[in-house]
Amino acid sequence: MDFNLTEEHIMIRDAARDFARTELLPGVIERDNKQEFPKEQIKKMGELGFLGMMVDPKYGGSGLDTISYILAMEEISKIDASASVVMSVNNSLVCWGLEHFGNEEQKQKYLTKLATGESLGAFCLSEPEAGSDATSQKTTAIEHDDYYLLNGTKNWITNGSTADFYLVIAQTHIEKEHKGINAFIVEKNWDGFDIGPKEDKLGIRGSDTHSLQFNDVKVPKENRIGPDGFGFKFAMKTLAGGRIGIAAQALGIASGAYELALKYSQERKTFGTAICNHQAIAFKLVDMATQIEAARHLCMKAAWEKDQNMDYTVSGAMAKLYASQVAMDTTVEAVQIHGGNGFVKDYHVERLMRDAKITQIYEGTSEIQKIIISRRLIGTK
Ligand code: CAA
Ligand code: FAD
Repeated sequence: MDFNLTEEHIMIRDAARDFARTELLPGVIERDNKQEFPKEQIKKMGELGFLGMMVDPKYGGSGLDTISYILAMEEISKIDASASVVMSVNNSLVCWGLEHFGNEEQKQKYLTKLATGESLGAFCLSEPEAGSDATSQKTTAIEHDDYYLLNGTKNWITNGSTADFYLVIAQTHIEKEHKGINAFIVEKNWDGFDIGPKEDKLGIRGSDTHSLQFNDVKVPKENRIGPDGFGFKFAMKTLAGGRIGIAAQALGIASGAYELALKYSQERKTFGTAICNHQAIAFKLVDMATQIEAARHLCMKAAWEKDQNMDYTVSGAMAKLYASQVAMDTTVEAVQIHGGNGFVKDYHVERLMRDAKITQIYEGTSEIQKIIISRRLIGTK
């Protein structure tokens, strides 16, 4: 068993770390305050190859493995989780889904632009009445001559107004339940496609979350992904990998908060000594470091299984479940270690604490991860 990173992995991690510190850190507090999308920074991430990391270079991607992707996700998330969710959706939901299940024409037309960052993607599964209960899709895509007519509402869509291309899940054959669901590529400027107002969120405030309305949107048949009825499997298979990315996001939020807390505890003095010398604080740091290490191993294991073409559904769910809890616990303790300074924006840890919460909700809540894991453990799925 080799726990060492390769030279290439270290290079990618360091490049992401440098980018996060030089390009994302300045302005991160202001963007959070103003709910401002990191437009210029995302453009640069595309130029550096961070938006299509695992995509084959023949489609404009960086051709890297999942380990490289999660190393970069961790580094970007330490500084700006709003930027890392954009990266996560584009890489592991949109690009991965299209590369693995799209046809050659779809890859040439859409993936090549998404992988280079020339265009941005969104993944649209959730609806007002279909969040955790994802098979209950109410959006319909009814077949006509050479097109589908799309009607319905999606909500909570990341990159909702900034995306160019949307992967939309919709029900085509209601009587077939989840086996009647399809996935489509929808372009932003098509008639009947409306974007709702931006959500005012607790965390990841720089990311752009909207509801979307489809009113008789004509989707050409060639924009259906995979065979008729493949849409729900498409969503589930894609999300299984996406969850490794969100696990890495949670890990980054946790390790970012830990690094800030460690540094602060070595500088801040009370009762004549640095606070890290008080055992109560030292033990908090120990718990944080140990949990982060465990979360990192779970993330690495899931990414490694994906790179080995093994079944990573359970390891990805475990990584997300655990890392998101570590993100919550660690950020709360980081605020505590900062005392009053932890409660104000300048010290970053309050933002990390707010950002941590979403990792327990999106791409399947913690309760849903437990359902996925327990079904495998008990053998019911
Ligand atoms: N791979 C392949 N197929 C899978 C699968 C997987 N990982 N998981 C389920 N399926 C298939 C099943 O085999 C089944 O197909 P068959 O009937 O042909 O066998 C079908 O999907 C239905 O599965 P279930 O019977 O298990 O369905 P369920 O109703 O019990 O729900 C669930 C399963 C896991 C709870 C699912 O509904 C789910 O994942 N819910 C959470 C939704 C979610 O994660 N949303 C995230 C939205 S995207 C997002 O959030 C992005 C972002 O924030 C940035
Ligand atoms: P519900 O499903 O209503 O769940 C409410 C509570 O009940 C949760 O605690 C849940 O765990 C629990 N619960 C539900 N069912 C069960 C059960 N069977 N057993 C035990 N507990 C249960 N979706 C997309 O498609 N694309 C995106 O880009 C996207 N981005 C998002 C960005 C943000 C900021 C947010 C907030 C959400 C985003 N989502 C996105 C939606 C997200 O995936 C859903 O919010 C999530 O899946 C939960 O669905 P829900 O909000 O409907 O909660």
